[in-house]
Amino acid sequence: MSDIAELKLNGQSYTLPVVEGSEHEKAIDISALRSQTGWITLDDGYGNTGSCQSSITFIDGEKGILRYRGIPIEELAEHSSFIEVAHLIITGKLPTSAELRHFSDLLTQNEMLHEDMKFHFEGFPSHGHPMAILSAMINASSCYYPALLTTDIRNRFDLHAARLLSQVRTIAAFSYRKSQGLPIIYPRPEYKYAANFLHMMFSHPTRDVELNPEAVRALDLIFLLHADHEQNCSTATVRMVASSGANLFASAAAGVCALWGPLHGGANQAVIEMLEQIHRDGDDGSRFITQAKDKASGRKLMGFGHRIYRNYDPRARIIKQRCDELLAKLKKSDPLLDIAKHLEAAALRDPYFIERKLYPNVDFYSGIIMRALGIPVSMFTVMFAIGRMPGWIANYREVLEDPNRRIYRPRQIYTGPTQTTYAPIRERQ
Ligand code: ACO
Repeated sequence: MSDIAELKLNGQSYTLPVVEGSEHEKAIDISALRSQTGWITLDDGYGNTGSCQSSITFIDGEKGILRYRGIPIEELAEHSSFIEVAHLIITGKLPTSAELRHFSDLLTQNEMLHEDMKFHFEGFPSHGHPMAILSAMINASSCYYPALLTTDIRNRFDLHAARLLSQVRTIAAFSYRKSQGLPIIYPRPEYKYAANFLHMMFSHPTRDVELNPEAVRALDLIFLLHADHEQNCSTATVRMVASSGANLFASAAAGVCALWGPLHGGANQAVIEMLEQIHRDGDDGSRFITQAKDKASGRKLMGFGHRIYRNYDPRARIIKQRCDELLAKLKKSDPLLDIAKHLEAAALRDPYFIERKLYPNVDFYSGIIMRALGIPVSMFTVMFAIGRMPGWIANYREVLEDPNRRIYRPRQIYTGPTQTTYAPIRERQ
């Protein structure tokens, strides 16, 4: 492969270095383009822009491949757990037994919020969206750890990472309890990560919820499948905020805000709302598909399409299979699963979706599992945020430890008025 790219501009030639990743993805390094030529590149939506070099996650969207630190998602889904995967993503290696025990202990020791945090929850209206509460409370937590604002974060990154990873789950469960007017349930040190979350969501002060091992396993899988996904909107946001030197909790809180949107993590909530609407309308999905193909309708087939995948999202394949197994084991049926399968089959043979290479993404079936676990729809995107926390932490760490770190600061092409004069108010029309 050539190690330079040539660019011709106004009759002059420039050479630009080429960068190749470990999976042979290629990029033209334009970091000196403006200083050499006075030009910048323009890439609306960043579809062709590599914003960093990262060693965390590899995706081949054409082939439908996803690997965390080199390990295929299918292998991790079958053999691993969310906490082991979190260790893999954050530290770069699968833990030994001793390392896993240490990491789990650190999570347990840091699962409690500062008791004063309870007063912050009081300030939110009961109908407040849990994503708003989650981002606000993650940011507020940083007030209790002044070391986050100092260089100590580098020395004790494992501790701060464990605090965030453990407490995001506590905050999420507390915000749900608050939204229901229910008393807060504290975490229990004897429970593992996903079980503890279900305990805090559904136990009563006088009676613990009975935890179904299948439900716990399914939730753990949901978290694992969401653990990282390279430079998506929320992770890129975390890196952007981190690049300014903002602390880990503030950067993660920004990630939660970016994730909330229905074109990103909010799609899992939008999918269920879409399926419920189809169900209420007595449609088998066919009418909805027709609308989704018509841009004027303002509708999209939620849970379909992806910026990177031009193939079946491997996470969707795993979740779809687990959906069937879980419902069978819990002896539940869900008419929304039948509608989802019908929609998928209809879309996958429709030329509109085939030509645009639109396939189910991770959000298409995840909501059906979460419904079966009793998670309310308004909490779906929160579940995504909990799962994505290892990826945000690992990406934050890459920015923090980059010896060549610069603040992220894109440029623009200005299209507003050229220089004009200030008109006094009486002369304005
Ligand atoms: N339903 C109908 N048409 C769609 C859909 C969809 N779900 N997704 C894309 N298209 C169409 C677009 O209108 C466009 O059509 P055109 O070529 O005639 O103009 C074409 O397919 C290409 O789509 P883009 O908009 O260029 O895709 P982009 O990469 O910008 O957006 C996105 C990707 C946001 C995921 C989009 O597919 C979408 O909105 N999907 C529904 C929301 C969703 O499920 N989001 C979750 C994504 S996964 C995640 O964030 C965890």
